[in-house]
Amino acid sequence: MSRTCILLEWLSHSYFVICGVMQSKRGRLDRYLCSQLHTHRKAVRELLLSGRVCVDGLIVKDMDRQVDEFSRIQLDEQILQANAPVYVMLHKPIGVVSATKDTQHKTVIDLLDCEARDELHIAGRLDLNSSGLLLLTNDSRWSDALMSPTHKVDKVYRVTLANPITEEYIAAFAEGMYFGFEDITTQPAKLVILADNVAEVTLHEGKYHQIKRMFGRFRNPVVGLHRLSIGDIVLDEKLAPGESRALTVAEVASIR
Ligand code: URA
Repeated sequence: MSRTCILLEWLSHSYFVICGVMQSKRGRLDRYLCSQLHTHRKAVRELLLSGRVCVDGLIVKDMDRQVDEFSRIQLDEQILQANAPVYVMLHKPIGVVSATKDTQHKTVIDLLDCEARDELHIAGRLDLNSSGLLLLTNDSRWSDALMSPTHKVDKVYRVTLANPITEEYIAAFAEGMYFGFEDITTQPAKLVILADNVAEVTLHEGKYHQIKRMFGRFRNPVVGLHRLSIGDIVLDEKLAPGESRALTVAEVASIR
């Protein structure tokens, strides 16, 4: 048995190799090691001081070194954590639910064929009867940046209404609307009339059923809602409904 395995057996009372994913986004290396190796800080300090722990290929001796879920963490030859960030664009079809599990409907996760699909979360849901660009990732810092109202990432939708749209909608969307239920006023939104009953709407936020509720103020039901883009990430026209692809490096970087 190798030195590492003996140590791990001692630390964890188990012969099995430990390979754990950090639950929090970012935290101290010593806390991660205590939890993964089921040991106390004194033992972890000794491991670190003896130069047996590497983070991203470099020996680390600091107890308070910060690591995240994508730091590669190694004890001797043993890899404790090695996760790659994954970013996916899906053309969400109507009738598929934006959730990771559902008892009634097919979920967006069911449509993916990538290996890491069960580790992904959705960065900005779409309603069951909405379609278009949906982003999924296992990188919570990236999705937080994308969803944060302070980053003001544009989300652009093509909206088809039951009745004609008039010019007064433009000012009402730009001004913001008060929603008593949440006690909030929507941030200024841009509305461009494309045809009698078709508009392009740009939002910086994503409140519950926001677009439907905003058009609801005019008693004009939404009959079609399709997301075209999020920031600089535009739904790839080569993707048929239900198809997905990995984001490019430039698309990922556009959100940071
Ligand atoms: N607004 C809605 O009402 N529904 C969506 O799916 C997205 C934005």
